[in-house]
Amino acid sequence: MIRSVIKGVGSALPERVMTNADISKIVDTSDEWITERTGIRARHIAGEGETTRSLAVMASRKALDHAGMRPNDIDMVIVATSTPDNTFPATATMVQADLGIQHGAAFDIQAVCTGFVYALTTADSLIKAGQAKAALVIGAETFSRILDWNDRTTCVLFGDGAGAFVLTAEEGEGANSDQGLLASKIRADGRYADKLYVDGGPSTTKTVGYLRMEGREVFKHAVNNIATVMDDVMRRAGTTANDIQWFVPHQANRRILEGVAKKLGVDESRFVMTVAYHGNTSAASIPLAFDVAVKDGRIERGQMVLMEAMGGGFTWGAALARY
Ligand code: ACO
Repeated sequence: MIRSVIKGVGSALPERVMTNADISKIVDTSDEWITERTGIRARHIAGEGETTRSLAVMASRKALDHAGMRPNDIDMVIVATSTPDNTFPATATMVQADLGIQHGAAFDIQAVCTGFVYALTTADSLIKAGQAKAALVIGAETFSRILDWNDRTTCVLFGDGAGAFVLTAEEGEGANSDQGLLASKIRADGRYADKLYVDGGPSTTKTVGYLRMEGREVFKHAVNNIATVMDDVMRRAGTTANDIQWFVPHQANRRILEGVAKKLGVDESRFVMTVAYHGNTSAASIPLAFDVAVKDGRIERGQMVLMEAMGGGFTWGAALARY
């Protein structure tokens, strides 16, 4: 059977770092409060000229270099984002153009913080269906542009950045020993749309709007939803947490990740955590964290890695891969 193999990974962060101390000069908060409740110490914030598109392109070039491939080898570009450069066209088409690719397909996926898991699942399905042979799957966000910088309950949580995977179609045995994506599951329950949303849009207010969130409500659902979908994916693949070397979660909040690790009975040291220095970068957080752990030597070829996320919608999902 065809497998979507992760040939290369890359990431990009804006130059400017904003620490908790910097934020406490903008809103009534403290390093102590933010660190204790979220584990976040700093985040990168896009400057003028740094956009979702430019971060996505930078991450993609690094992923292509890592894979030893050229832009022209790619025949599908997917960008998971909730902060596109424009309402349309899709940021993916801009990335495609910047990379000089003139064939294949390019489109965006909108599942907020779960965007990268949705994008991986979509890319894998299209690769298996013969629509593409090599895909760039990107998570890229500039959430700083949709934050209400007067609202201390949300502006302390998020950051900007991008991460990318190069996926290629390879022949596998159909067994768990195969390299590539082994199983995934995506979920949504729109009854909770008003718990985490942006209060504007082209068809309603004709503005971009600002992020609004009932933090406690999100927290309440997060651990259960994430742990359940991870179990589901492990069951689909016929494997258990013991066989999986690394967990690369969406980086929303350290306490959510600790809760998930505890529920799964997995030691936290097997969870790749970058939330302290990236904050919550929404759809970018999984590929960003994955890239950090590959480049620092934690994630090695042949190891099994389980990725998971939950976000606005609510949406949630998980994807298991052998790297
Ligand atoms: N600095 C100082 N005080 C603050 C801040 C802040 N930045 N934000 C809120 N407070 C105050 C509140 O006003 C409140 O004060 P009060 O008791 O006088 O009314 C107090 O702190 C407690 O507020 P809560 O909202 O109850 O704090 P909680 O312990 O729930 O922590 C948090 C808030 C961190 C947002 C938590 O609910 C959370 O992590 N939720 C998950 C949200 C999340 O991660 N969302 C990301 C997107 S979804 C995803 O990616 C999974």
